[in-house]
Amino acid sequence: YNVVTLIRKKRDGEVLSEEEISYLIRAYTDDKVPDYQMSAFLMASFLNGLNTEEAAYLTKSMLHSGIVVDLSETSGLKVDKHSTGGVGDKLSLILAPIVASCGVPVPMISGRGLGHTGGTLDKLESIPGFTVDVNLDRYKEILQKQNLVLVGQTEEIAPADKRLYALRDVTATVESIPLIAGSIMSKKLAEGIDALVLDVKFGSGAFMKRHEDAAELAKTLVGIGEEFGKQTIAYLTNMEQPLGNAVGNWLEVKESIDCLNGGGPDDVMEITHLLAGTMIYLGEKASSVEEGIEMSYQAVDSGAALQKWIDIVEEQGGDSSFVKDPESYPKAESVTPVKSDRSGYVTEMDAFALGMVSVELGAGRRAKEDEVDPQAGFVLHKKIGDNVEKGETIATLHTNKEEMLDAAKKGIVEAITIRDIEPKPLRRITHRVDKDG
Ligand code: URA
Repeated sequence: YNVVTLIRKKRDGEVLSEEEISYLIRAYTDDKVPDYQMSAFLMASFLNGLNTEEAAYLTKSMLHSGIVVDLSETSGLKVDKHSTGGVGDKLSLILAPIVASCGVPVPMISGRGLGHTGGTLDKLESIPGFTVDVNLDRYKEILQKQNLVLVGQTEEIAPADKRLYALRDVTATVESIPLIAGSIMSKKLAEGIDALVLDVKFGSGAFMKRHEDAAELAKTLVGIGEEFGKQTIAYLTNMEQPLGNAVGNWLEVKESIDCLNGGGPDDVMEITHLLAGTMIYLGEKASSVEEGIEMSYQAVDSGAALQKWIDIVEEQGGDSSFVKDPESYPKAESVTPVKSDRSGYVTEMDAFALGMVSVELGAGRRAKEDEVDPQAGFVLHKKIGDNVEKGETIATLHTNKEEMLDAAKKGIVEAITIRDIEPKPLRRITHRVDKDG
């Protein structure tokens, strides 16, 4: 095939065949197609879309750019969860140990921050010593021993996605249903799972901001999962404001530890228990999602989930003293309050803008090669529906880039709308999507 012809076809809105898509992905993975041609193809796909068949072919090609891991050494149905990405979304850190402690093996391969969103790998690496780069043998060994493994994509797992993900991040081609679906499902189908739970976000902090687009994405993801023979359940959850209070790598790990200790914000725990309960059900350790949710609550109450978290941190080389005593973690050079300039109720938050503030404070990347600062980010003291007095602290910024403070304060104040009238409560979870619709 001539790559220029394939780009032109997509540019002109034509439909590509399975062979054409598979050729392009293979040639890119083999370094025969340069980034600039792939960028042009991604933008053409972004603008003109890919139909359901093309999205499935893309997923298949990306999946087969690497291997499909065989996890049969570990008994039981393996279940994972993946989120389409949000701000303050630390749910994986809480639900993975919960579900593993309930007897369901969780082989979790996560990503780094993308655009304004955070990534599980960057959060895990804020724990000194924690390593997310392991080879395949070690991946299987950790799962076998702990019933849980929390790592990044190895070279063998969906290498096409690894490269396309980094390219999309810097070419403004993230927010596309087929590209997101191919990216998520190729990774998840490669890791050796039997079933999958998807947390599909909508709202200002999500990639699919409109509810109807998120619903379409959920349907596409579930359709691909089922086509590959994996039971897949998706929930549409609210990302109109950050999840919980903490945004930033270590700050989110710390909030997750609070959650595993039985505290933590209500919004975080409500969605965590639903997703965890669904995973426990799909792993056949509960006969219904409701029973799974009950088990999830018990895993936190009994301390079993926290113990599993300590075990996995130690297994993967992390210093668990910070898990046992989060206050001992070193603080950023600057810890600064942001005050409200008026009284009223918080009625809206621009979660995208808040995510960008966190990136500017050092918690995310602006270029592919940037390092993230584990200490950077902020903690919100007010969420939608809360009452605020003028001069009250609405957020606390944590940063080692003091020069960013003024812009970050302004960013926070502008991203939080305060009005006189109390808003309607947000619906945290709106829909469930499974093979029956
Ligand atoms: N998460 C992924 O893994 N891929 C995307 O494209 C978006 C969110």
